[in-house]
Amino acid sequence: MAFQLNNVVPWGRNMEEYKSMFLLNEEDMKKKIAGFGDGPASFNFEAHCLGCDITSYDPIYQFNKEELEKRIEDVRGTVMQQMSANMDNYIWTKIRDLNQLEQIRMDAMKLFLDDFEVGLLEQRYRYHELPNSLPVGDDYYDIGLSSHFLLLYTKLGFEFHVKSIGEMLRVCKEVRIFPIVDLDACQTDMISNVIDEFKKRYVVELKATNYQFQKNANKMLVIRK
Ligand SMILES: C[S@@+](CC[C@H](N)C(=O)[O-])C[C@H]1O[C@@H](n2cnc3c(N)ncnc32)[C@H](O)[C@@H]1O
Repeated sequence: MAFQLNNVVPWGRNMEEYKSMFLLNEEDMKKKIAGFGDGPASFNFEAHCLGCDITSYDPIYQFNKEELEKRIEDVRGTVMQQMSANMDNYIWTKIRDLNQLEQIRMDAMKLFLDDFEVGLLEQRYRYHELPNSLPVGDDYYDIGLSSHFLLLYTKLGFEFHVKSIGEMLRVCKEVRIFPIVDLDACQTDMISNVIDEFKKRYVVELKATNYQFQKNANKMLVIRK
């Protein structure tokens, strides 16, 4: 089925959040990085401004700036209502309250939107839908990231996750995924089964990160060749 923008809830994080979630240090930031399911995050733009080599892949990059802007505005209220109804599932220390959360997310998505057309021309934003194969060779990237996409949407199923992470591992020397819980903050059997599958062929580590907003979501999964 064709990818529908009205099935997506665009919600983007910023570079500081990506650096904390994925423990990206100065050495990492000098490497060739790909973000999968980066959507409207401002990581690509902010890191590009620092001279970093980041490519973001996402199916929403097939739509134009106006379409993305409209979808962000359309879902903004609903997302904030859901956050308000589920405040107990989150830790309000670094982000103090709902207003600050909305401001941080909207600021990140504005940076993305303002950069989107230039970034498309520069091929920093590339339309791609996992688990399809990517138009780059083996080990092309040093690090592949997935923030709040893989493992979070467990309903996509075991096969989808194994194929998607497998393709990321073909083109990246190392893959980092955050968080490793589902939308209810549980580490489900499906997530454990995916991890066990990759343990058969790769070096797999769970690392505590510097980022925790969703309760129980403070570890990233690292899979290396
Ligand atoms: C919750 S958002 C996370 C955005 C960003 N990574 C962040 O943390 O701020 C999930 C993203 O996954 C993308 N996505 C959905 N299906 C996908 C697929 N099959 N392959 C790659 N990305 C997908 C969506 O378009 C959306 O941008």
